[in-house]
Amino acid sequence: MRIPYIVGNWKMNIGFDEAYDFLEELNKIYTTEMTHNIRVGIALQAPLLVPMIAEFYDGNFLIGAQTCCDHLEGAYTGEISPVILAECETNFCIIGHSERRQYYNESDEAINTKAKLLLECGIEPIICVGETLEQFENNQTKEVIEAQIEKCCKDINISECVIAYEPVWAIGTGKSATSKIAQEVCHLIREKIRMMYPEDADNVIIQYGGSVNSKNIKELMACEDIDGALVGGASLKIDSFKELIKYGD
Ligand code: 13P
Repeated sequence: MRIPYIVGNWKMNIGFDEAYDFLEELNKIYTTEMTHNIRVGIALQAPLLVPMIAEFYDGNFLIGAQTCCDHLEGAYTGEISPVILAECETNFCIIGHSERRQYYNESDEAINTKAKLLLECGIEPIICVGETLEQFENNQTKEVIEAQIEKCCKDINISECVIAYEPVWAIGTGKSATSKIAQEVCHLIREKIRMMYPEDADNVIIQYGGSVNSKNIKELMACEDIDGALVGGASLKIDSFKELIKYGD
């Protein structure tokens, strides 16, 4: 049984005070208002990991990072090692987000290495894949996504990873993929994983991300191969995030 998993990706937003208030409220909501079984996570800016995990370690939600280095230690100024993330008790780490691919040249090979190192350190990788608008319009979605999955997920313990399908054209645009498209691609991802890891494919959590909001969450979550959401804009305010995590109530 795949437990739904909704993660807010705050990106480079939200400072200490706002984070504290948000997470305190989230903890309250999670403990008093939730009636369905769901995992919830927040990926915040790295300097907030230590104080927020210290404060909310016993909280019912997970706290994660937004990227990590593809090495465990060494002369990589400015990077964050999976080892230090583990020492901070970080639960999960997003890797391969399209913003990292686009602005910081993150490659599928580096993402694969990051996934392996995170797993070695006991941190759940959330591996992002997604096609650009141009690729979508040229009907290249299938080949792009399959190639990304093949390279990013090579030789890893897939049962401990999460996959997020985030079409680049749907991120921050207010134009979510229709549930039909999102389901089709998430199904394609599961079948590709099945070819690589036949025994694990049915247990892998696949999230959809890209303009998820309170209006489309229910329909997206009802799709057979969509097990969760990776949410940007709508995760920045507790009121809208609350509506997302309570989609099934
Ligand atoms: P939006 O929900 O703002 O479209 O962002 C999606 C995203 O990039 C989550 O990682």
